[in-house]
Amino acid sequence: MKIAFVSSEAVPFIKTGGLADVSGALPKALANLGCEVKVYIPKYSDIDDTQFDLQYRRDIGEISIKVAGNTRIVKLYQSKLPESNVIIVFIDCPYYFHRETVYTIDEDEDERFILFSKGVIEAIRIEKWAPDIIHCNDWQTGLIPLYIKDNYKNDPLFSKTKTLFSIHNIGYQGRFSKSSMLKADLNERYYFREGPVEIENTFSFLKTGLWFADIITTVSETYSKEILTPEYGFGLENVLLLRRNSLYGILNGVDYADWDPARDFYLPFHYSSDELSGKLKNKKYLLDHFNLIFDDNIPLIGIISRLTDQKGFDIFKETLPELIKLNAQWIIVGNGEEKYEDLFRSLTNNFPSKVASYIGFNIELSHLVEAGSDMFLMPSLYEPCGLTQIYSLKYGTVPVVRKTGGLADTVQDWDEQKHQGSDSGNGFSFYDYSGLALFLSIKRGIDTFPFKQTWNKIQQNGMNKDFSWDKSAGKYVRLYEKLISSVS
Ligand code: ADP
Ligand code: GLC
Repeated sequence: MKIAFVSSEAVPFIKTGGLADVSGALPKALANLGCEVKVYIPKYSDIDDTQFDLQYRRDIGEISIKVAGNTRIVKLYQSKLPESNVIIVFIDCPYYFHRETVYTIDEDEDERFILFSKGVIEAIRIEKWAPDIIHCNDWQTGLIPLYIKDNYKNDPLFSKTKTLFSIHNIGYQGRFSKSSMLKADLNERYYFREGPVEIENTFSFLKTGLWFADIITTVSETYSKEILTPEYGFGLENVLLLRRNSLYGILNGVDYADWDPARDFYLPFHYSSDELSGKLKNKKYLLDHFNLIFDDNIPLIGIISRLTDQKGFDIFKETLPELIKLNAQWIIVGNGEEKYEDLFRSLTNNFPSKVASYIGFNIELSHLVEAGSDMFLMPSLYEPCGLTQIYSLKYGTVPVVRKTGGLADTVQDWDEQKHQGSDSGNGFSFYDYSGLALFLSIKRGIDTFPFKQTWNKIQQNGMNKDFSWDKSAGKYVRLYEKLISSVS
């Protein structure tokens, strides 16, 4: 089975969030199950050619691609996902992808991903590599299913190709003006009120993907149900209700080659569920790094996040005066919206003995904070899957989360009333989206922390749960098979 896996980011090459983790890991798991997978991403200027041994496909040379009436030159580069035979193809077009950030608010953001989508299809054609499935991810790849169904419908190479579209976040819809359809060489007949590509007077790449893909998946079961409601569907719930028989929720997995405290490349001290002493050493190391004092009796609460409304920082802010009085220390690694970056900067300035922060994107620190913290906070307004809480579970770092999406599917609330031995709880969770509910959950965690035996039980419950990709990758393979055997 041949799978073209198309994404706007993938580890270890380029990462802004969990999509990169998934795109670097799932294709390897699919290959282990016997699929022939090729991954396609744009060649951003931040990708280090030498470090990752990118090879220019001289044999292919230059490909001309038309976007917005201009012809752009695309070249292909190739490498492999680490420790695998999975080929990754980089779509190179410096005009569009040599920018300061991966995603931009530039006027031609639509053109960047039109070029990418067309580039992927042309790369497949030029190699005459007929994929059984094109697996698209998020709005940046949303036009591909329509291209395959319309612009390329007479190309025999794609006569058997099916498309699968994975929603990693329905809040990002790639909305542009109607004129983008022309730029993309798409037939404007698709654009009409509430039709296949239109939402609130815009042309949405995401909606296009949802409408035209043969199958839609999202990254947890709970989220697959939530997005059918106005509260979580961001205006796309009606399309999803129409397509509900083709919508599946498959929980993301973890690549334990990168995220296992027993072998994590970035950790000064390794540890496992049988031998946790290394965790305490990492805590000391981390606190020291941030100039905070180490005290075994004070829990350290970690946050690693994009700083956006999605992640629940407004309710965090609401209850801040109470949170800061608690006997705990805080370390935040994050970047994003200015209002939250400023919030964490000022917290650090005002409470230097309790709070430390790194405002920016730092992969090494993200691993250290997972390992060195006692608790991990993720109070998301919505969370399609969430990977950081799953990493926390493996690192014995007890998650405190809002019960939504993938957080609800991975974190089981610890029940203080139940007999300890029989409780499978691995964290603390709350449902109400309010500062008070967040505060009470954190407080439950802090109050439980001194009871070392109980705490250890909660940690063990998390550390011993297996979230590796094998199971979820198997579910994708079964969906691919189902698609391939379906008529039309
Ligand atoms: P999302 O994709 O919504 O941002 P996830 O929990 O699925 O949320 O994935 C986030 C990924 O990005 C994790 O691997 C996390 O460690 C990483 N990450 C988030 N913020 C930072 C940061 N500031 N520095 C380094 N890594 C980060
Ligand atoms: C998105 C979601 C996150 C999910 C990630 C990978 O960025 O916000 O919940 O874990 O994609 O699927």
